[in-house]
Amino acid sequence: MSHANFVPEKVTIPSLLARKQRQQKLTMLTAYDYPSGLILDQSDVDVVLIGDSLAMVALGYDNTLSIGMDEMIYHSKAVARACKRPLVVGDMPYGSYQEGASQALVNGIRFIKEAGCAAVKLEGGKQRAGVIAALVQAEVPVMAHIGMTPQSVHRFGGFKVQGKSTEAALSILEDAFAVQEAGAFAVVLEGIPSSVAAEITPRLRIPTIGIGAGVHCDGQVLVWHDLLGLSGSKPARFVKQYLDLHQSILEAVNHYCNDVHETTFPDDQHSYHMPDEELFKEKVDELYGDHSACPSNEGSFQKT
Ligand code: KIV
Repeated sequence: MSHANFVPEKVTIPSLLARKQRQQKLTMLTAYDYPSGLILDQSDVDVVLIGDSLAMVALGYDNTLSIGMDEMIYHSKAVARACKRPLVVGDMPYGSYQEGASQALVNGIRFIKEAGCAAVKLEGGKQRAGVIAALVQAEVPVMAHIGMTPQSVHRFGGFKVQGKSTEAALSILEDAFAVQEAGAFAVVLEGIPSSVAAEITPRLRIPTIGIGAGVHCDGQVLVWHDLLGLSGSKPARFVKQYLDLHQSILEAVNHYCNDVHETTFPDDQHSYHMPDEELFKEKVDELYGDHSACPSNEGSFQKT
């Protein structure tokens, strides 16, 4: 059978829920621009998240707190233009929903209307149930995010694994039930012991998507720069780095610099030519003489 006309199916919220019921694993990756969005559009990835991790991995901030709505919308638009097949989710930045439902509605709707996302993600469990319900009622599908929520970095005293005690783990279970009841269509479990994720996942109707939460989640998410080894630093324990692109790109850049210094780039193949160069040179000499502006006889720009 020919696969020439095979069109991969568009990923939708109902199709993600059906995958959970069929116990088929889900994949999510972050993207922040058009070229990475194009690659993910052609890949097998189900969900593309314009994560506020953008602040750290692409803009150089120490945490995710400084990034604002306009930057998130700008990057989400670029990714959404590229991603026709996967579900595109925009991450609500710190300060865009913490004031309550009316603020969350204004900003959540911007992700759908302006950026072309299909859903938003926001951090928090029980304390965000009202905001999640308001967004869902306004046709803004919500992916929740609980456990080690990076926007709580100051309260946690760093990016630290959460839910290590029975009490803390039970509180994360309550968060999971609360976001499901509020209407979230999926929940990210970040930075929690895998045994906690293993208790949450089968008890929920909605898919759990883990990052640093072990293998028992319904799906996994990684940050683009982490998966590809683009950051040039030692990855966190939960990251599996599939490439070392930092090193490969560094080598390519230095190769280019060397080619320029050695005048092996641009070679003939990478240069344009005139049909009658000799005639052109004669004409220039006739009009302007064969003088060079370079004072040294040994200069590499000297006419030979
Ligand atoms: O901002 C982000 O990239 C995220 C994922 C790690 C889930 O929130």
